[in-house]
Amino acid sequence: MKKVMFINGSPNENGCISTAMDEVISVLDQNGIESEKLWLGKKAIPDCIACHSCQETGSCIFGDEVNAVAADLDDVGAIVVGSPVYYGGPNGRLTSFLDRLFFSVPDEKFNGKFGASIVSCRRGGASAAFERLNQYFLMENMHVVASQYWNQVHGSSAADVKKDLEGLQTMRTLGRNIAWLMKAIDAGEQNGIQAPVHEAKTFTNFI
Ligand SMILES: Cc1cc2nc3c(=O)[nH]c(=O)nc-3n(C[C@H](O)[C@H](O)[C@H](O)COP(=O)(O)O)c2cc1C
Repeated sequence: MKKVMFINGSPNENGCISTAMDEVISVLDQNGIESEKLWLGKKAIPDCIACHSCQETGSCIFGDEVNAVAADLDDVGAIVVGSPVYYGGPNGRLTSFLDRLFFSVPDEKFNGKFGASIVSCRRGGASAAFERLNQYFLMENMHVVASQYWNQVHGSSAADVKKDLEGLQTMRTLGRNIAWLMKAIDAGEQNGIQAPVHEAKTFTNFI
């Protein structure tokens, strides 16, 4: 069974997003599925400079954690990304990281994996941030995993999130859905159900 990779874009290592992710991880643990939690830290993360060198080399020119995650993708069955809501969207730290990861890695590395986004806010903007983050998965033949509600928790601290009982339940439901789907894919592969073979991509540029 492949593992689930969590990418926490919050500058707060043990804040709201981390607390929400831990709730998902607890359910994956119960299902015997390994999780890896990556915290992006507090240092500035370069954004994509559109140099396109990755299209020649297959890796990002900045040579940082983006390439380390890319190298690990063969062992990953699901990617869960998490961001605090900043002005109604995901934070720049995470989108800078994900822009470079998704642009520099060949599509085949993402095809067929599961993806989920988690957002945290004090009060508003969660659904816009959630939708923005799901865009990464939806053009890479990844399957976005649903829950009983949009994957959001509320609060300004881990202690607040622990009181958001509906948010935490939403996280546990997400964890159960990820576990079930990963097991279903494994069972399908063992019974000869092959992943779809995709056509070479056509690009229609209106120039
Ligand atoms: C720059 C900045 C912008 C923010 N914008 C919003 C916002 O638009 N809506 C909101 O409800 N909370 C906003 N917040 C609060 C955070 O989203 C909220 O505290 C979040 O749960 C923190 O998650 P974390 O502990 O994982 O970092 C903002 C916080 C910061 C620092």
